[in-house]
Amino acid sequence: TANKPLSGKTAIVTAGPTIEHIDPVRYITNHSSGKMGIAIANALADAGAAVKLVLGPTNQSTTHPGVTTFAVQTAQEMFDQVTSLYPQANLVVAAAAVADYRPANIADKKIKKGQAQLHIDLEKTPDILRYLGEHKAHQLLIGFSLETDNEKEYALKKLKDKNLDMIVMNSLADAGAGFNYDTNKVTLFSKNGDGRSLPLKSKLEVARDIVSAIIDLQHA
Ligand code: PMT
Repeated sequence: TANKPLSGKTAIVTAGPTIEHIDPVRYITNHSSGKMGIAIANALADAGAAVKLVLGPTNQSTTHPGVTTFAVQTAQEMFDQVTSLYPQANLVVAAAAVADYRPANIADKKIKKGQAQLHIDLEKTPDILRYLGEHKAHQLLIGFSLETDNEKEYALKKLKDKNLDMIVMNSLADAGAGFNYDTNKVTLFSKNGDGRSLPLKSKLEVARDIVSAIIDLQHA
């Protein structure tokens, strides 16, 4: 139907940060609020999709009836939740800021502040989007790229390396873009490398533009 072009489709959206525990009281995380991904979940549901929102720790939420939320904390939990939903999904939008590293060992008791310097060994977390790209069957995969420099080069590398259909580039060098703001400034790159730069607008409007681009991809 014209106003519900994604009806009958199932979409996974990842959003928010992950937290990686150091000990029972401390963790590593980043500045993601979840706003961008939640806006995408709502816009996909408005377009008729059944949306599974896999959401890291945040005070943001959605009450959209078309969105089911799965709360997770760590990169590993996000990986497990997303991969279990993946076979049934038609498309995935990865807007989460997943921690790239986690403590190699989680202390089971609070670390005491004896020493002047403390070293914590970190190991890589699973790259969820890379795994999805490697195990792609029929799904459309849309990733994000967040950088502070060399934005286009890194975005195009992720598009190719992670086997994506589209990547949404945003930069912390742009005012009003990235973490926490209610606005964002993005460039959409499709598989053939064509970029479409959008002006600064609300995350809701950015989300609608991304959903329109996804609908175009489906028909391509
Ligand atoms: O949540 P907000 O405050 O609204 O902020 C929005 C945002 C800035 C978090 C969002 O617009 C954004 O850019 N999300 C991606 C942030 C990021 O970690 O980008 P990246 O370039 O490091 O990762 C590339 C892609 O791989 C992303 O789609 C990411 O979700 C995915 N990834 C990364 C690492 C990992 N271990 N698993 C992944 O799936």
